[in-house]
Amino acid sequence: MSENAITTAGEARGAAGEALRPHVEVAFAQELSALAAADDRPRPERWRLSPWAVATYLLGGTLGDGTVITPKYVGPRRIVEVAVTTLATDRALLLLGVPGTAKTWVSEHLAAAVSGDSTLLVQGTAGTPEEALRYGWNYAQLLANGPSRDALVPSPVMRAMAQGMTARVEELTRMPADVQDALITILSEKTLPVPELGQEVQAVRGFNLIATANDRDRGVNDLSSALRRRFNTVVLPLPATPEDEVDIVARRVAQIGRPLQLPPVPEGTDEIRRVVTVFRELRAGVTADGRTKLKSPTGTLSTAEAISVVTNGLALATHFGDGVLRAGDLAAGVLGAVIRDPATDRVVWQEYLETVVRERDGWQDFYRACREVGA
Ligand SMILES: Nc1ncnc2c1ncn2[C@@H]1O[C@H](COP(=O)(O)OP(=O)(O)O)[C@@H](O)[C@H]1O
Ligand SMILES: [Mg+2]
Repeated sequence: MSENAITTAGEARGAAGEALRPHVEVAFAQELSALAAADDRPRPERWRLSPWAVATYLLGGTLGDGTVITPKYVGPRRIVEVAVTTLATDRALLLLGVPGTAKTWVSEHLAAAVSGDSTLLVQGTAGTPEEALRYGWNYAQLLANGPSRDALVPSPVMRAMAQGMTARVEELTRMPADVQDALITILSEKTLPVPELGQEVQAVRGFNLIATANDRDRGVNDLSSALRRRFNTVVLPLPATPEDEVDIVARRVAQIGRPLQLPPVPEGTDEIRRVVTVFRELRAGVTADGRTKLKSPTGTLSTAEAISVVTNGLALATHFGDGVLRAGDLAAGVLGAVIRDPATDRVVWQEYLETVVRERDGWQDFYRACREVGA
């Protein structure tokens, strides 16, 4: 089978709704088209929706005809309004925050709502070359015919510029600083010179860029001040209240579980609340009632990790239990998230388990399950 055949078969399955993780513009196509139909406010050039409708798509709401738009981002409304407004200006958007605060998630939904396409994406790593932001060459063509427009392989950013779309750069600060700087001309002059051809690609209206970066990460590079000035920075906070965090986890577990054919977790179940409580208390270094000081483990214990602990627990319960999520299905996952550094985190966890979890009303099953896997 040729590589092409593999791609085509995969594409056909993806299009048939079998993709393991459909792009958000596909997964939420109905909401997006309902919003577009109901939206009579002015849209910036080449935007699929007005800024108001983009914010509604992210925050959720009910349209005039009764269509329910589910909230994608749970957090301060103002954050979303500032982010959306930035995209309508000539400044790019930088989403900053600790890991697991939905930077990638928000970026994907913004691109889907504004441009109808979240796939014009460059992933930043220590090895990202400048070509990933600018353009590369098809070497067979280049050698055969020399540099030409046909031999040029545009980056996702270049395509977004030419088409007036939203480009995304993930983990900007993981790229080496000199590679990041390739964005300066793009963002300030809105053009990408191609000196080999004596040409340039000018951004057309509608183009903008969303970058994400972690502000607590080992081995990251700084963002140069020249580049930082080109961005409007929006900091995404950790969920403000336990209720918000439980809501986020429950929603995402349900969404992730559907294509994996996992059963829904009954509303109001204690298990999600317990995972969230453990994570929040250890993160904050104090129990929820404020009475007991705790040591914090080295891991981030983010909302994203809580989501994966609950999803894994649900899969365990489904495949090896009776389908009901119980403490025993979550204990191993919680331990795995908390104990990142075996030397120090184990001590922190033991202390928390014995002084807090053990004494807590209604947590005996969870205590026992944690002792069992920790032994
Ligand atoms: N405030 C929030 N609202 C909605 N979802 C959230 C929130 N915080 C975290 N999440 C969820 O956490 C998961 C991970 O987020 P992600 O975007 O990968 O984090 P980051 O890029 O900041 O590390 C996503 O599934 C997202 O839905
Ligand atoms: Mg991310």
